[in-house]
Amino acid sequence: MSRIIYYFSGTGNSLVVARDIARKIDGQFISIPSVIHQEIIKTEADMIGIVFPMYHHGVPLIIKRFINKMDDLEKKYIFGVCTYGNSPGICLKYLERMVKSRGGKLAAGFAVNMPYNYIFPSFVLKDFFHSFVLRKTSKEKQQNMLDHWKQKLEIICEYVQAWKEGELETKADVIEHLVDSLLRDTLQKSVWLKVAGFKGHTNLPFQESIQLMDHGFKCDDKCNRCGICSKICPVKNINMVDGLPVWQHHCEQCFACLQWCPKEAIQFSNRTSRGKRYHHPDVKLSDMMINGKN
Ligand SMILES: Cc1cc2nc3c(=O)[nH]c(=O)nc-3n(C[C@H](O)[C@H](O)[C@H](O)COP(=O)(O)O)c2cc1C
Ligand code: SF4
Ligand code: SF4
Repeated sequence: MSRIIYYFSGTGNSLVVARDIARKIDGQFISIPSVIHQEIIKTEADMIGIVFPMYHHGVPLIIKRFINKMDDLEKKYIFGVCTYGNSPGICLKYLERMVKSRGGKLAAGFAVNMPYNYIFPSFVLKDFFHSFVLRKTSKEKQQNMLDHWKQKLEIICEYVQAWKEGELETKADVIEHLVDSLLRDTLQKSVWLKVAGFKGHTNLPFQESIQLMDHGFKCDDKCNRCGICSKICPVKNINMVDGLPVWQHHCEQCFACLQWCPKEAIQFSNRTSRGKRYHHPDVKLSDMMINGKN
């Protein structure tokens, strides 16, 4: 019986979740960016875990691309784990749908609350579209989340090792379904592209339009031209030109470049410069590089 946990992570929360589960159930853990270039993703494992952060009430685009490349899902036990900052919404339902579309069945889906690694509105109404700041999670709250994760780890591992089925952790299903059908590809898409400073027009649905949100990144004069941002990017979306990062518009919005820049030189929109950078305390830059690139 072999077990594989595939994961995607920008700031280490999902990496820790994947790593802890893999150790506990005696499985392998593999980063999705390290296999996504393969035409077909095959595995002999009979148990597959998919761990990812929730993005904009949904599933990162790379997870959709990953599942679309997976082969032979029919007879496997598949479970998902999303990490989230505020609310898991129905992102595990989206995952369930994706797995089903490939002939598989999501046996279970778990949601894990972790520190929020993205921006949120700071409610300066006169300049709403640029009033997004990095969210701060207090040390105490962070510790509570990490302690809670240790308990949840036991619950998840016990569940999947018993090959149980049926659990799907969601919240506010009705509202999420409503927003999804009415606002996701209209209002939500235009607000977020505006926040990112994207001035063009795109017919891409919201989930895919996120790739264009890297229009919001810039690097300031603290940059020491170390190139870490380019190396850490899980989808090779940053080229170094004359020693400085240039974003290529196929971004996942994982925020790894901004959060891991050692000089805090990367900003998004125009109010992140004073925000404290975040990454999971048990994850080192080298963990991200090794697991994200190989
Ligand atoms: C682009 C983006 C969008 C996000 N959207 C949400 C969201 O809609 N709801 C939420 O609860 N958390 C949201 N988050 C927070 C992350 O899901 C959360 O911090 C996650 O644990 C990060 O995982 P990672 O460290 O593995 O990248 C978002 C983060 C990013 C980068
Ligand atoms: S990681 Fe930061 S300091 Fe290094 S090249 Fe990128 S922007 Fe500049
Ligand atoms: S450019 Fe930055 S935010 Fe976009 S995928 Fe790369 S590391 Fe993540």
